[in-house]
Amino acid sequence: MAIQDVWNRLREFDAYPKTLEDFRVKTFGGAAVTIISSIIMITLFISELNFYLTKEVIPELYVDATRGEKLKINMEIVFPKMPCAYLSIDAMDISGEQQLDVDHNIYKRRIDKTGTPISEPEKEELGKKEDQEKKEEEDSEQEDEKKKMEVLDPNRCESCYGAETPGLKCCNDCEGVQEAYRRKGWAFSDPTSIEQCKREGFSEKMQSQKEEGCELYGYLEVNKVAGNFHFAPGKSFQQHHVHVHDLQAIAGAKFNMTHHVKTLSFGMEYPGMENPLDNMKTIDVKGSSMFQYFVKIVPTTYTKLDKSITRTNQYSVTKHEKQVTTSFSTGEHGLPGVFVLYELSPLMVKFTEKHRSFMHFLTGVCAIIGGVFTVAGLIDSLIYHSAKAIQKKIDLGKAL
Ligand SMILES: *[C@@H]1O[C@H](CO)[C@@H](O)[C@H](O)[C@H]1NC(C)=O
Repeated sequence: MAIQDVWNRLREFDAYPKTLEDFRVKTFGGAAVTIISSIIMITLFISELNFYLTKEVIPELYVDATRGEKLKINMEIVFPKMPCAYLSIDAMDISGEQQLDVDHNIYKRRIDKTGTPISEPEKEELGKKEDQEKKEEEDSEQEDEKKKMEVLDPNRCESCYGAETPGLKCCNDCEGVQEAYRRKGWAFSDPTSIEQCKREGFSEKMQSQKEEGCELYGYLEVNKVAGNFHFAPGKSFQQHHVHVHDLQAIAGAKFNMTHHVKTLSFGMEYPGMENPLDNMKTIDVKGSSMFQYFVKIVPTTYTKLDKSITRTNQYSVTKHEKQVTTSFSTGEHGLPGVFVLYELSPLMVKFTEKHRSFMHFLTGVCAIIGGVFTVAGLIDSLIYHSAKAIQKKIDLGKAL
């Protein structure tokens, strides 16, 4: 008896009292609402499921506490109007000292007017000279010049025109003389008076490449401190600790510093990385312009779902452009070229990939089903009752 009582009490809690089947009416409007609401429900469920299956990337901000790391600068830049023979690349760090000992791997390739490569890539040396480059230089010489070289004594020691240093006693080719001058901090002004250059047809080489462009690609690995690197016409040298570009050999020329940055990044790529300078074309409208890119580097780590960590960098950039006035050889008014000045942010961004919460997914699904069901019920009853009311009016009209 008591059990029956409890049972009856419990029944009072039913929030879903059932009506008898016999009293239910199925209407055409109800069927339409059911079909439409089912479609909506399925669509919402699929979108919710899709969202659940994506990964969540959580960004966090830290103070960068890493030490002594290197910064890798990847680049691919095309200068359609600057011949490789004119263009030089230099990297300096914040102290203004040239980075001679950076690990680098930059290649230069000559391209013609239409942009097709016309020579094998040549490794570019930053302020340093190695035998390998000399060899490559010789390889690329014209046939008749090669013959001339063959007659020369391989053990010869030619004059550096007063620029000899203990480390560089002989200047057997034009590049050698230029290098010796550069180390001394002298301007290499008149190639026509230098025997080695005349023999190699230095001036002619400069002339013949006039119509060409240059493609530079590769990477630089520098210390992780602020610094800059630049692409500018003329060989560079240090003079009283000031970085100078020797433009006299090519003075009078107007440089078209039009450039196309195919890619510029500071480190490895991670999913969703955006490099603001990628695929940027800049046209030097006035000629001999100085393009400065002020880059702020933000160290970034990206942790994937499998816990593998990528240490890299993002960056933001602002650009400044000005035309360099005529007496640029003094360096006072700047230098035509492309300058990238970078700075490191003390803050670091940490991205972590995570799975989305299954509980959230479940909650979302319940909300969809319940919400659509309720709203559909409201609409259905609205249709049903208004149809009934209209019917009543019509019947009333007939009766009159
Ligand atoms: C430099 O070259 C670009 C592209 O070919 C051209 O549009 C621009 O007018 C040139 N600038 C000058 C000063 O000749």
